[in-house]
Amino acid sequence: FNDCIIMAGGSGTRLWPASTSKKPKQFLPAPPDKSFFASSVERALVVTDPAHGRVIIIAGKSHVNLIAEACADFSPQEKKRLVLIPEPAAKNTAPAIACGILYADWEGGGQERNILVLTCDHIISPLSVFKANAAAAAAFAQQDKLVVFGIQPHSPDTGYGYIETSQLLSGFNIQDKGRRHYEPEVFKASAFREKPDRKTAERYVKAGNFYWNSGMFAFSSKFMIDEFRKNAPEVLAPFSKLMAPEDQEYRKLKGLRILSEWMDLDKAYSKTKSISFDYAIAEKCSQTVMVKADFKWRDVGSWDEYARMLQTQIPKNQTAADKEADIFRVGSESTFVDSDIPVALCGAEDLIVVVRSGRDGNPPAVLIAKKGETQKVKEVVEKIKASG
Ligand code: GDD
Ligand code: MG
Repeated sequence: FNDCIIMAGGSGTRLWPASTSKKPKQFLPAPPDKSFFASSVERALVVTDPAHGRVIIIAGKSHVNLIAEACADFSPQEKKRLVLIPEPAAKNTAPAIACGILYADWEGGGQERNILVLTCDHIISPLSVFKANAAAAAAFAQQDKLVVFGIQPHSPDTGYGYIETSQLLSGFNIQDKGRRHYEPEVFKASAFREKPDRKTAERYVKAGNFYWNSGMFAFSSKFMIDEFRKNAPEVLAPFSKLMAPEDQEYRKLKGLRILSEWMDLDKAYSKTKSISFDYAIAEKCSQTVMVKADFKWRDVGSWDEYARMLQTQIPKNQTAADKEADIFRVGSESTFVDSDIPVALCGAEDLIVVVRSGRDGNPPAVLIAKKGETQKVKEVVEKIKASG
C-alpha cells in the first residue's frame, strides 16, 4: 500500500472502568507487548512502503498526548512516516476516512494512492499472515474495488457488519495429508449489511456464506472519492474547501509529526455528517470484494474476553494485576483482578474485579461482575451516565 489510515477516535465503554473517554480501549495493553493502538501502527508500518509509505493517524484532539506517548517506541525512521491529524469533533468513521484520503492525496502530489484503513480495537496475529492477506487486498484495491476482510462468524453477534459472499475470484485452500496449502481466498461480496438485528444475523450465520466484517478496508483513492461523491456527498463536500496543508502547519511531540493547524478543518468537521463508513459507503458500494482472513482476529468486546487474554500471559493463578498491585487471596483463585491499589479476596470465586483508584485522572470506580455477565457493562455505564 502507498498509505495507511488508522482510525483511532473511538470511545469504547465495554472495558470500563479501564477504558474511559479520557483513555479509551485503544490505549490499553493488548498482549503480548503493545497497546491496541501501537499494534495497529506496527501493522500499518509493515504493509506500507518502508521508504515513502505514510501512516495517517486520525484521532480525537484530546488524545494527542496519549498517541505521542504510544508512538514513542517506534524508531526515528518509522516515526518519519507517521502523521497525526487531530479531529476537532468525533463524527464517526466516514468523515475520518474522507479526511484521511484527501490528506493522502495531497501528500502524494495528486497521484493515485492505494490505501488501507485500519481500526485499533482488535488483536490480530500473526503479523506475517496479516501481511499476506493485505497483499491480496492491495491487488484488488488497485482494480477499483472496495476490499473488506471477512472473519468466519461463530455466533450471530449483532455488533458486527455482515458480508455475503458469492463467487470465488482468486486463491485456494486445499487439505493434503493433513497439511493446508493455500493462497488468500478473495470472494465477490454480493451484499454488506451493517449491524443486522438478531433474527437476520441468525439467518446469515446459518446460511454459511456470510462473514463478519473485520472493520478494515482497502481501496484506491480516486475510486473511493468517487464512491463518496455518489453515496455520501454530504460527508465529503465540506472537506472539498480544505487547502493542502503547509509546512508550518505541523508541530512535533516526542518525535511525532502532528498537523496542528489546518485551515478550515474545524468548519469542515462542523458541517460534515456524522455516520460510519459501513453505513455511508460499504452498504451501498456495488464493487466490493472480500479477502477471507487467514489471520486470527479478536475484537475483545468484554471483560470476560479481556481477562482471559491478560491471564494467558502469566503463570498459574497469578493475574497481571497481581504482579503490579498487591492482590491477596484466600481461596478466590478463579477471580480475575485488575487494580491499581491493593485488593484482598476471601472466598470470592468466579468474579471479575476492576478497580481504578483515580490516579489515572478519571473518577475513582470499581467494577464487580460475575464471570460470564460482563456483556452488561455497557448497560451499567449508561446508567452511570444517566445519573450525571
Ligand atoms: N478518527 C475516528 N473518529 N475514529 C473513530 C471514530 C471517530 O469518530 N469512531 C470510531 N473510530 C474508530 C475506532 O477507534 C475503531 O478503531 C474503528 O474506528 C471502528 O469503530 P467502532 O466504533 O469500534 O465500530 P464498531 O465496532 O461499532 O463497528 C465496526 O467494526 C466491526 C468490527 O469490530 C464496523 O466496521 C463493523 O462492520 C465491524 O464488524
Ligand atoms: Mg469496534
